[in-house]
Amino acid sequence: MNKTLPFNKEQIEEIIKKYPTPFHIYDEKAIRENARRFYEAFNWISDFKNYFAVKACPNPYILKILNEEGMGADCSSLAELILAEKVGITGENIMFSSNNTPSDEFRKAKQLGAIINLDDISHIKFLEEAVGIPEIICFRYNPGPLRKSGVNSIIGKPEEAKYGLTKKQLFEAYKIMKQKGVKRFGLHTMVVSNEIDMNALVATAEMLFDITIELYKKLDINLEFINLGGGIGIPYRLDQKGVDLNILSQKIKKIYKERIIKNGLDFLKIVFECGRIITGPYGYLVTRVIHQKHIYKEYVGVDACMANLMRPALYGAYHHQTVLGKEKKPKTHTYDVVGSLCENNDKFAIDRKLPEIKIGDIIVIHDTGAHGYAMGFNYNGKLRSAELLLKPNGQVVQIRRAENLDDYFATLDF
Ligand SMILES: Cc1ncc(COP(=O)(O)O)c(C=O)c1O
Repeated sequence: MNKTLPFNKEQIEEIIKKYPTPFHIYDEKAIRENARRFYEAFNWISDFKNYFAVKACPNPYILKILNEEGMGADCSSLAELILAEKVGITGENIMFSSNNTPSDEFRKAKQLGAIINLDDISHIKFLEEAVGIPEIICFRYNPGPLRKSGVNSIIGKPEEAKYGLTKKQLFEAYKIMKQKGVKRFGLHTMVVSNEIDMNALVATAEMLFDITIELYKKLDINLEFINLGGGIGIPYRLDQKGVDLNILSQKIKKIYKERIIKNGLDFLKIVFECGRIITGPYGYLVTRVIHQKHIYKEYVGVDACMANLMRPALYGAYHHQTVLGKEKKPKTHTYDVVGSLCENNDKFAIDRKLPEIKIGDIIVIHDTGAHGYAMGFNYNGKLRSAELLLKPNGQVVQIRRAENLDDYFATLDF
């Protein structure tokens, strides 16, 4: 596939006059259009909802846009719950999918009326003691070795993942909650991340449909919803193809008809908590070349570093790069594009074919709209960048200022 940009070099140079590099910039128009396509694809499901995974892009402006497009918020921490609350997302528009959860987080989730998604059977007692038993409850299922459809490269094998309840625990947990008077139930799983293999995504739906039927037959529990998690992948590489949501939806619909409707369980809703596919392709990290170094390899040093985008260092992830103004030039050079951390894996690209680069060039790193800024950190005293929003009318607004040294020193007392 071809990767395009919603701006050109001249526009970015104008923006840089006001907001120095590095920064992440998000394309509001594309985010809205994409959200509409997502909802359109699943419009056969009554009350279809995606709870946007706040962790993917925890910015209130982005949450507000997505909420306007009908999305709720999937939160996994106190700060994420507060972010949702601040933009007016409350009640069952919040899915609280946390793990190893402290009691104050359950308290906040309960106070907001969020749907609580429990990660362990022992959390029933913990939750009851902390905040009482809520009216609706969801459990996160970990199929362990029962999952047959391949191993996900980010999450790995389910039996080695720390999340969720085993199948035996799951049934026991619903039984306990039923005895405690709960009448509304959901079921969740998340066994893939950045998955572009449609079969793996369909297998997840199939697995949860089967559990839905089993819960009904064995415990007389009518699940209100299944949450298929996040994890739908995006094509970071040019040779990858994204998931066709219309085809995915139709495949799920077919199994829904065969299993759920056939068993008379057609009040079952399907929801997701996707982040990456919602904002990932519509964010860009803009950075400037400040050094070049010729030793055993050719290095291009930019003013961003892995503190601004950790995925390449963390997972060896590919992020496409465009050298602004040189889009049509031949890719005659092979570079490592690096940041300034004292970490040898602080590299945005290794052995990347690019046009000849000069100091001062602007490089745009693609697909940073999810798990990009969000994974930032302060190692080496590096400061988090600004986040900008490209409005549909072409205006650019700053939606988070860059950190400054006062922010960095604010927690120190000397
Ligand atoms: C529980 C849970 N839900 C949703 C997501 C969002 O995943 P993605 O952004 O890949 O859709 C994550 C990602 O880490 C997660 O851990």
